[in-house]
Amino acid sequence: MDYIVPMPMTEARFQEYIDVYDLDLNASCVVVDEENDNLIHGLGMLGVRNGRSWITRLGVLPYSRRLGTGRRIMDFLILKTKELGLPDLWLEVIQGNDPARKFFEKLGFEHTRELMVARRPPTQTLPDEKQCLSVKTMAPLDIAECIDLLATRKNRPNWLNETESFSHVKKLIGSRFELADGAGWLIYEPSLLQLKRVTVEVTAGDDALVSQSILCWLHHQFPRLDAISENIPADDPRWKGYEAVGYFDSFRRLEMLRDMSKPYQARQDQEHRRV
Ligand SMILES: CC(C)(COP(=O)(O)OP(=O)(O)OC[C@H]1O[C@@H](n2cnc3c(N)ncnc32)[C@H](O)[C@@H]1OP(=O)(O)O)[C@@H](O)C(=O)NCCC(=O)NCCS
Repeated sequence: MDYIVPMPMTEARFQEYIDVYDLDLNASCVVVDEENDNLIHGLGMLGVRNGRSWITRLGVLPYSRRLGTGRRIMDFLILKTKELGLPDLWLEVIQGNDPARKFFEKLGFEHTRELMVARRPPTQTLPDEKQCLSVKTMAPLDIAECIDLLATRKNRPNWLNETESFSHVKKLIGSRFELADGAGWLIYEPSLLQLKRVTVEVTAGDDALVSQSILCWLHHQFPRLDAISENIPADDPRWKGYEAVGYFDSFRRLEMLRDMSKPYQARQDQEHRRV
C-alpha cells in the first residue's frame, strides 16, 4: 500500500504486529470482490484493549479508491467498536495525509496530539560527558519490573507504547538510574541492528537533562546500533534530551480519537460502487 511513509510487511512481521498490538482478526476486515477472482480492494484492522480500540493498517488499493471502499471499511471498524461496547476509538494518520485526515474528521474523529517518530543513526555524535549528569548507580531491571514501571508513566502513552504493547514484546532490557542531580529509568527492545522502543522516564530532576544523560549512557554502550523511538508527543519535555544525543524527527503522526458516545450513521446499506 502506498502510505506516505512505506510500511513494508513480511508474514512474520505482520504476525508480530498482530500480537504486540492486540489486533483482533475477528474485528478486522478485508474487502474482496468475490465476482472477480477475490480481487482485494482494501483492508482495515482493529486493535482491541480494555475500554478502547485502535484502527491500523487501513488502506485501499489505488484502483479502488474514491468508490466508497474506505468508508465501508471504516463503517465496519466503527460498528465493531460499538458492538464491543468500547467508549474510545483511536487512530493515527501521518502528518501531510490531508485526504485521510479530513475523511476521519468527517467520521467524527478529533485531533488529540502530534506524535514524532524519532530515529538516531549510530553516526550521530554524543554530547561531551561534562554536559551530562554523572551516573551514581545503575540497576538492571527484570521484565516484570519493566512492565510495572511502564505502568507508572506520568504521561499517557500512545497505543504503540502502551504497557500492553511492551508486555507482548519478547525481549526487553531495562535499567534504573540514580544520577548526580536526578533519577529515571530506561527501557528498550534490543535487536541485531537496532534499539527499538527506546523509552526514558524521568522520576526526579530536569526532564531534558535527565533524559539526555540516560540516553547518552545508552548510546555509549551501543555505538554501532541504530535507534528508534516511535510516537513521542511533539511537546514532550524529554524530547530535548533525545535531540541532544542525536535523535531526529523523521516523520510525524496525528493521533485522533472518536468518542463512541457520539452517534454514527453507517453507509452499509448503500450499494458498493463497482470499479
Ligand atoms: C484514505 C483511503 C483509505 C480512503 O479510501 P477510499 O476508498 O478512497 O475512500 P472512499 O471512497 O470511501 O472515500 C471516503 C471519503 O474520503 C475522502 N477522500 C478519500 N480520498 C480522498 C482524496 N484523495 N482527496 C480528498 N478526499 C478524499 C472523501 O471525503 C471521501 O468521500 P466522498 O468520496 O464522498 O467525497 C485511501 O485513499 C488510501 O488507502 N490511502 C492510502 C493509505 C492511507 O492513507 N491510509 C490511511 C492512513 S491511516
